[in-house]
Amino acid sequence: MRTVNTFLLAVLSLLALFTATIQSKEWWENGNYYQIYPRSFRDSDGDGIGDLNGVTEKLQYLKDIGFTAAWLSPIFKSPMADFGYDIADFYQIHPEYGTMEDFENMIKKAKEVGIKIILDFVPNHSSDENEWFTKSVDGDPAYADFYVWHNGKINETTGEREPPSNWVSAFRYTAWEWNEVRQQYYLHQFAIKQPDLNYRNPAVVAEMKNVMRFWLGKGISGFRVDAIPYLFEKELDRYNNYPDEPVIDDVSSCPDPDDGCHLQHIYTQDQPETFDMVYQWRTLAEEFKKEHGGDTRILLTEAYTSFDNILRFYGNGVLNGSHIPFNFDFLTNVVNNTKAPVVVEHIEKWLNSMPEGVYANWVLGNHDNKRMASRFGVQRADLFNILLQTLPGNAVTYNGEELAMTDVYISWEDSVDPQACNANPTTYYAVSRDPARTPYQWDASPNAGFTSGDHTWLPVSADYKQNNALAQLRAPQSHLQVFKKLIRLRKEPSFQDGELKIKAIDDDLIVYSRQLPGSDLYVIVLNLGATDKSLNVNDHYSLGSQAEVITTSIQSQYNDGDIIDPTTFKAEAYVGTVLVAVS
Ligand code: NOJ
Ligand code: MG
Repeated sequence: MRTVNTFLLAVLSLLALFTATIQSKEWWENGNYYQIYPRSFRDSDGDGIGDLNGVTEKLQYLKDIGFTAAWLSPIFKSPMADFGYDIADFYQIHPEYGTMEDFENMIKKAKEVGIKIILDFVPNHSSDENEWFTKSVDGDPAYADFYVWHNGKINETTGEREPPSNWVSAFRYTAWEWNEVRQQYYLHQFAIKQPDLNYRNPAVVAEMKNVMRFWLGKGISGFRVDAIPYLFEKELDRYNNYPDEPVIDDVSSCPDPDDGCHLQHIYTQDQPETFDMVYQWRTLAEEFKKEHGGDTRILLTEAYTSFDNILRFYGNGVLNGSHIPFNFDFLTNVVNNTKAPVVVEHIEKWLNSMPEGVYANWVLGNHDNKRMASRFGVQRADLFNILLQTLPGNAVTYNGEELAMTDVYISWEDSVDPQACNANPTTYYAVSRDPARTPYQWDASPNAGFTSGDHTWLPVSADYKQNNALAQLRAPQSHLQVFKKLIRLRKEPSFQDGELKIKAIDDDLIVYSRQLPGSDLYVIVLNLGATDKSLNVNDHYSLGSQAEVITTSIQSQYNDGDIIDPTTFKAEAYVGTVLVAVS
């Protein structure tokens, strides 16, 4: 009897293992996420500002490239002090972007086309033009504690009133703003027009959950959640004061006390309650699915914080959190001059530190950073897109990176980004986010086909006549063609589930393989450096006597489909190449 049981058990567990491996993935796993910056994507009505009908028009284009989902930066009613990250009504569409009907049309079209729509959820703050804030200013009991208010301190020497603490906004200067009507200071961790919501008030927590349910009810597939580290601040001490934050150890790295980086944000960021809030939102998303059916609704979380903190957003072992905590370790630490071994270190660090049962994700750009092709050089744009698309897990692409669009220089006078405008003519460029937010380059017609109007809210790049989506679709070789190839390639079993083996050979060369046993062996060679190198690929991963070039950077001497001898491979400067063993 006992042996029979053991035998049965063995058969059953084998069966379970088998079903687990052949079980197909959920829609969001190994996905390709596209960030749309709606203001700059496509303008359908000629006012020079992108809009929802513009997005709807282009969903098929995104599907044709192969994206799984589109995340839209905020589309809600806003005075646009921070281009939509200052929300005046969380339940309404921003009029310049369209109407609720336009939104519903977009969702309908997205379903037809097969693109999931993800909205930006901005929980930390509202606009000062939000009715909640106006009511809070007026002391309406339902809203009085919706924001973080404080009387401030009286300076003992001058007798003057001062802000409650030394806290500094992420956009420079004090994070406290005096309000004449309420005769109190309010906290704003970003622009003055972005008062921080008070997460220690359960009514705020409940209201923001309502916001989530409202949009989920409209048929979206999840949220990208904004600025999470800032949700909670340290509680008041027993004297009703907020403690000052200590100055950083090495003041020379950020000498200006008006800059956020001057302080250690131990009281204004990454408070322990933050993680639990994300887990609560995950529960909400899961409950929504249970109640309404349909596919999994996901969370993508934005947190520029320590490596360990980013990983904590995945979950704490008991509770689940974010499906995709943006991998900002990769985005912020892999920079222009990063050497191959360090790039590999960052990749392995993430993969080896993730908790069980989650997916990795890779991010190379967004609307808050300079463009990928400008940071690494246009010549290396394909190489980095190859890397992003051939690593295990989810890939996140900012609109335009698939075309290798570059930063557009915007003068101090023409700058509109609040982060740039709070700096000064000599320092603004380093922090300005305008250069990465210029209109998408659709074709060679005036204003790059972004608008039929004669002006655009930010200037169109001067290179649009040569560099645009249509030209790249027509060209036999282009960044977009490489990108499309890569997305298709990712659907192969070896990229879906295959193991990654990766190493740096020297300061420039990264060589790695992806293979699922029984499926094709792929080897990827990236030369980050400026000199051509010869390489026997078989020294590292054995491709056999012949290999096929699946895709390669557009300037490469090789062409897609070439059959090559992997023992005498030319790894050209700045070129990335995907090879497959020819059996
Ligand atoms: C992060 C957003 O990505 C950024 O654009 C915005 O300025 C801040 N959060 C404040 O919402
Ligand atoms: Mg418009």
